[in-house]
Amino acid sequence: MLVSKSQILASRVLVVGDVMLDRYWYGAVERISPEAPVPVVRINREEERNGGAANVAYNVVTLGAKASLLTVVGDDEASHKLEALVAKTGIQPHFGRDTDLKTTVKLRVIGRQQQLLRLDFENTPKNEILASQTATFEALLPEHDVILFSDYGKGGLAHVSNMINCAKAQGKPILIDPKGSDYSRYQKANVITPNRAELQQVIGSWNSEEELRIKAHNLRTALHLDALLLTRSEEGMSLFDELGDLHVSAQAREVFDVTGAGDTVIATMATLVGAGMTLRQALPIANRAGGLVVGKFGTATVSYEELFA
Ligand SMILES: Nc1ncnc2c1ncn2[C@@H]1O[C@H](COP(=O)(O)OP(=O)(O)OP(=O)(O)O)[C@@H](O)[C@H]1O
Ligand SMILES: [Mg+2]
Repeated sequence: MLVSKSQILASRVLVVGDVMLDRYWYGAVERISPEAPVPVVRINREEERNGGAANVAYNVVTLGAKASLLTVVGDDEASHKLEALVAKTGIQPHFGRDTDLKTTVKLRVIGRQQQLLRLDFENTPKNEILASQTATFEALLPEHDVILFSDYGKGGLAHVSNMINCAKAQGKPILIDPKGSDYSRYQKANVITPNRAELQQVIGSWNSEEELRIKAHNLRTALHLDALLLTRSEEGMSLFDELGDLHVSAQAREVFDVTGAGDTVIATMATLVGAGMTLRQALPIANRAGGLVVGKFGTATVSYEELFA
C-alpha cells in the first residue's frame, strides 16, 4: 500500500456544508382515500439517517478516520434528531443554529416496497450565522489535514470562496462536491467532484471523450483547480489534471442502491489525501469504495476492512 493503515486512521477531515435528515416512513397500503384518488398509507415504521454533508462525514468515520462537521441547522425537531444521529457516529459536530431556519429534511413515504412520495422541507440559512462560521472554520483549520466542502445547494456554503482562501493560506488540500451552475466560487480548490449531470450543467453536453477532455481541462484551467474528478456512475470515474487524464472503470457488481455513492467517493478521496496520497493514487481506491456502496441496501458507508480486503 502507498500509505500505512495508521496514516489512514489518523487522517483528519474537516467537512463543511449542507446537512440534511433523511427520513423514511414505511407503511401498509390497503385502500384508496375517499378524499382524493391517492393511496392511504398507515405508517408502522420510521427510520432516520444522516444526509448530505452529515453522510459524507459519516463515511469518513466509518473508514476509521476522523471527521469534524461544520454546518448550520435550525432549532427544530429535525435538527435535534440529526444532532443525536451525528453524536452516535463519532463525528465531531460544530453546528451553528439559525432559529429561523427549517432544517433540511427529505421525507420518503414507502408503501408496498416502493417510494410513493418524497417531501422536502428546506429554506436558506441567514447570512449572519453563516458568516460567523468563517471564524470557527479558521479556528478548526490547523487541527485538520484536509478540507471537504459538500455543497448540496441549500445555501450553507455562501462563504466558500473565503474559506478556500483561508485553507489555501494554511496549505490544506481542498476537495469540493459542487452544485449549481456557477463554479467560480470554487476557484483555487484542489479538486471538484461533479457527477455527469452536474458537470453538464456547467460545460454543456459532450459527444465524445475527446470533447469531454477538452471541456474538462478548460474548466479546470479557468477555475485554477489542480484537478477535476468526474464521477460517471456505471462508467466509473475520470480524473483530469495537469498530467492529462486518468480513467478507472466502475467495479460493476450487483447494484442495489446508487444514492450516496458520490458522498462515499469524495469522503474516501479526502481521507486518503489527508493520509498523504496523491489524487491519482487515491482514485482507484475511491472508485472501489463507490462500487462497494452501490452494492449495499440501506447502509451507505464502507469500512476500512471492506475497502482494503
Ligand atoms: N451503477 C453503478 N455501477 C457501478 N458503480 C457505480 C454505479 N453508480 C455509481 N457507481 C460508483 O460510484 C461512483 C459515484 O457515483 P455517481 O457518479 O453516480 O455519483 P453521484 O451522482 O454524485 O451520487 P450521489 O449524488 O447519489 O451520491 C461512481 O464513480 C462509481 O465508482
Ligand atoms: Mg453527488
